[in-house]
Amino acid sequence: MPMIDPHSYTDSDHGSVKHLELDLNVNFDEHRLEGTATLHFGAKTRGPLHLDTRDLVIESVHSGEGQALEWTLDSAAGFMGSRLVIDRALGSEAIVIRYQSSPSASALQWLEPQHTAGGKHPYLFSQCQPIHARSMVPIQDSARVRFSYDARITVPAPLKPVMSAAPGEELPGSGEGTGTFTFSMPQPIPSYLLAIAVGNLESQDLGPRSRVYAEPEMLEKAAWEFAEVDKMLVAAEGLFGPYRWDRFDFIVMPPAFPYGGMENPRLTFLTPTLIAGDRSLVGVLAHELAHSWTGNLVTNATMNDFWLNEGFTVWAEYRILEALEGGEVVAMARAIGRHGLDEALEQFGEDSPYTRLETDLAGVDPDEVYSLVPYQKGCLFVQLVEETVGRKAMDEFLLAYMDRFQFTSLTTAEFEEFFHGYFPGIRERIDTKRWIHGTGLPEDAPVASSPALEELDALAAAWSEGKRVALEQTRSWSADSWQIYLQKLPRPMSSEECRWLEETYGLNSSGNAEILCQWLLIASASGYEPAYDKIREFLGSVGRMKYLKPLYATLHKGEKTAALAREIFDRFGGNYHPIARGGLENLLA
Ligand code: BES
Ligand code: ZN
Repeated sequence: MPMIDPHSYTDSDHGSVKHLELDLNVNFDEHRLEGTATLHFGAKTRGPLHLDTRDLVIESVHSGEGQALEWTLDSAAGFMGSRLVIDRALGSEAIVIRYQSSPSASALQWLEPQHTAGGKHPYLFSQCQPIHARSMVPIQDSARVRFSYDARITVPAPLKPVMSAAPGEELPGSGEGTGTFTFSMPQPIPSYLLAIAVGNLESQDLGPRSRVYAEPEMLEKAAWEFAEVDKMLVAAEGLFGPYRWDRFDFIVMPPAFPYGGMENPRLTFLTPTLIAGDRSLVGVLAHELAHSWTGNLVTNATMNDFWLNEGFTVWAEYRILEALEGGEVVAMARAIGRHGLDEALEQFGEDSPYTRLETDLAGVDPDEVYSLVPYQKGCLFVQLVEETVGRKAMDEFLLAYMDRFQFTSLTTAEFEEFFHGYFPGIRERIDTKRWIHGTGLPEDAPVASSPALEELDALAAAWSEGKRVALEQTRSWSADSWQIYLQKLPRPMSSEECRWLEETYGLNSSGNAEILCQWLLIASASGYEPAYDKIREFLGSVGRMKYLKPLYATLHKGEKTAALAREIFDRFGGNYHPIARGGLENLLA
């Protein structure tokens, strides 16, 4: 039985799902999705059929013709979940599964009203990447399988569902006080791009192909922050070819959303921490947009090949940024990226297998080894190729790559074959084997440099000699400049130094979550008590793992601050997303 993905029970001999039909009721009282999933295989299947599930209650399985089918559910195997086995599918083209998700479904977070912007209505959102779709739908949960989908979603009024799909009709629901909404996603997607959010949602158009969804309390701010989305879309199309998903809408989530952004097609999910009030964090939107090509159109086959998604996307994000804002801005972004990579390499150790681009994650929970390595080492590899072959050849390669693999998924080996075939002789100029299969960072990795970066370096280095940067001198700094400067400052600092830093620059009241987080990291590492309340407030109001993890780790490490980490986690841990909570529990154990 050919298993095609270490994180899925999908067996390629069994045929693959071509179309999914969902008919689900969103039960906020019980925290369950309940209804049916109809899997169409596009051809008659006799069975056996193996599907991925996790914590699902399977109620019945029928053939498309309505005949009851026998099934068994294997016992749960950790993050892999339980294999659903249908031995005899009776030559049906479709399988209808009646089921319920569990209140602890790893893909779903159910929020009480007090954890939303409006405070009056509950909220639900999904996060299926990397392997959580199986806790929401019984499916072949591997990126090697692609399917289109239709959905009918029933929710209590006045809530509104949105999905990674085109919205259709709004009908009165079968139950009293409910509404049923239809959706359709005509382009085939891998299961990790299934997505749903339900809440008190409104939307505002931002351009001919884009609108932003948010709770009404957030909508105006969100619309202003991302008003330039259409310019991004036009720039991206100029670089990577036509946009293939019709619309590029996005939704600003409640704070509990654990990532910066998630590239759900037709409906990117964004953390509200991007709303800085000055458009300084829109790079994340550019990143998710870039996934419309690298990731959603050309997709990693398995999580071992995740760098094909993220490395190319960071590179593409920087190209969009360069087209819109120029090279200086990109040099800053690259420096921030490099800092993150160096930290990840240090945490893993340079010899760690998790510092490889292609990884072997059989038996490993991909959430547990999530890091910036595939992003930033991947981007540096693509950048090195670009610098080696020249921009023109690189742009042509990218178009050929997407043309060849669009709407498919590929392994690293398939990538290498195509890449080496396209650039014969590239191996003599770049040690591609070392880059893709070796650990650590090769010496020929490009290094970000610019006069502004050098100046920030020098200023941060001078801190230890007692030299301070006058407020006046920082007036021209961008948010990225601040982030870089703060990242480079030494720690721990004395209380006097911390006080000076905070009071001079008013860091506690920064509206930019990246800057605020950098300052709180310094304060945490320094055990600076006057900042404890701010640390409590921040950790109680954000759910983005990018901020939670380093802050908790820093607090936990310090003798003086370890108890504070515990205290804050005991108070707010229950509000965090299950994935974030799990990671932090490990960290604090
Ligand atoms: N696809 C990722 C998020 C993700 C990856 C979720 C793996 C679950 C498993 C998304 O595109 C992403 O990379 N988000 C980043 C943004 C960034 C690098 C600009 C994030 O959330 O910080
Ligand atoms: Zn990404």
